Amino acid sequence: MLHFSLGILLGLAACCASLDNGLLKTPPMGWVPWERFRCNTDCKNDPDNCISEHLIKAMADRLAGDGWLRLGYKYVNLDDCWAANKRDAQGRLQPNPERFPSGIKALADYVHSKGLKFGIYSDLGSKTCSGYPGTTLDTIETDAKTFAEWGVDMLKLDGCFSNSSIKAAGYPKMSAALNKTGRPIAFSCSWPAYEGGLPPKVNYTLLGKICNLWRNFGDIEDSWDSLFHIIEWYGNHQDIIQPVAGPGRWNDPDTLIIGNFGLSYEQSKVQVALWAVLAAPFFMSCNLRTISTEAKNILQNPLLIYINQDNLGIQGKRIAKSQHLEVWKRPLVNGQFAVAVMNNGTDGTPKPIVTTLGLLGILDCKAGYKVYEVLEKLFMGTYKLNDPIRTKVPPTGVVLFFLRPLC
Ligand SMILES: *[C@@H]1O[C@H](CO)[C@@H](O)[C@H](O)[C@H]1NC(C)=O
Ligand SMILES: *[C@@H]1O[C@H](CO)[C@@H](O)[C@H](O)[C@H]1NC(C)=O
Ligand SMILES: *[C@@H]1O[C@H](CO)[C@@H](O)[C@H](O)[C@H]1NC(C)=O
Ligand SMILES: *[C@@H]1O[C@H](CO)[C@@H](O)[C@H](O)[C@H]1NC(C)=O
Repeated sequence: MLHFSLGILLGLAACCASLDNGLLKTPPMGWVPWERFRCNTDCKNDPDNCISEHLIKAMADRLAGDGWLRLGYKYVNLDDCWAANKRDAQGRLQPNPERFPSGIKALADYVHSKGLKFGIYSDLGSKTCSGYPGTTLDTIETDAKTFAEWGVDMLKLDGCFSNSSIKAAGYPKMSAALNKTGRPIAFSCSWPAYEGGLPPKVNYTLLGKICNLWRNFGDIEDSWDSLFHIIEWYGNHQDIIQPVAGPGRWNDPDTLIIGNFGLSYEQSKVQVALWAVLAAPFFMSCNLRTISTEAKNILQNPLLIYINQDNLGIQGKRIAKSQHLEVWKRPLVNGQFAVAVMNNGTDGTPKPIVTTLGLLGILDCKAGYKVYEVLEKLFMGTYKLNDPIRTKVPPTGVVLFFLRPLC
């Protein structure tokens, strides 16, 4: 048995002003290809899985048709490897003609016709990470204009093949160029991930003013090890990165890898629980045509999404860590809370825990709270501040509590 004694209060609401484009007041939700489909350009031998308009349309169809959009998963984005090897005669980026024969404007129109939003990718550098034409300082305005003309709703700007001074000039310049197009385009900046994610090299005050979200850390891979490392990075550096998140400006720990090959059922629940508590973007990167019912049920849990999309937009924090257990807590609107208890142990049996609202620092409503376990869709009962709350946390697993005050 483990008793938590926690005294740490949560950080106050976000510190700073956000990019003034009116977008992403709650974390974005949707689908991106990179983690699952990578730079597969072999449409001859693998037509259903290569980066192409066919793939994007298929995912748009699934998002709109299989209940995702209704729950808020509305962005369908491109990542690297959509572009042709050369700019066109006017110096504009253009798509690979074999894989995107209808062009990007037509693809964006198709996505919009489904009620979805369309995102694109470029790279601030001489080349993208996979070697396609990059956006250089002198092509920023052209590319922003091209994206706006195509009807793009979000731009992810990666950072391969450039240095710190180019990034320091280029990210603010792109932000201004997007604004100048007059089209609201959410802006995702990979800048901090290329500078180690921490001050003094990263200025989060500035990032919040020019970007809607940013990757702080390296790419997620399809494994528990990768997932756990990202969670630990966010926990270990939360005093720096938690206060900078808020409506319109989010830390992005990368895509949801649920529905792929590397995570068990319990580990899949860990990712959504932590991402909800972290107010992280819910970008899936899986094959929505073949996703299992089990994975779909995890990702389509309405209470989980309610927590992730909470309007206060306060990123949760790790409030305790002991042996293999970690407790994470996020304050929500109307005095509600989400609390995740993660067990990263591998000693094959669920770990019994007992805690109380009081020990979790949840003391505002003396009458007590209704307690739900979100991922099992279970109402556990009504608890006063000192009533013991008992549960068991599976190995490399999680429980996610949702607490609603009786007051
Ligand atoms: C551009 O910036 C101005 C001033 O911050 C803001 O009022 C406007 O809504 C922005 N426009 C777009 C398209 O982002
Ligand atoms: C960054 O790259 C540019 C263009 O290649 C170069 O002019 C500049 O000196 C580089 N800056 C640093 C700090 O390396
Ligand atoms: C970070 O950026 C903000 C906003 O642009 C600026 O006021 C501040 O001086 C910068 N901080 C550092 C340490 O450079
Ligand atoms: C659990 O966390 C500890 C550090 O807190 C780490 O050393 C260990 O590798 C982790 N185990 C797993 C299975 O992730």
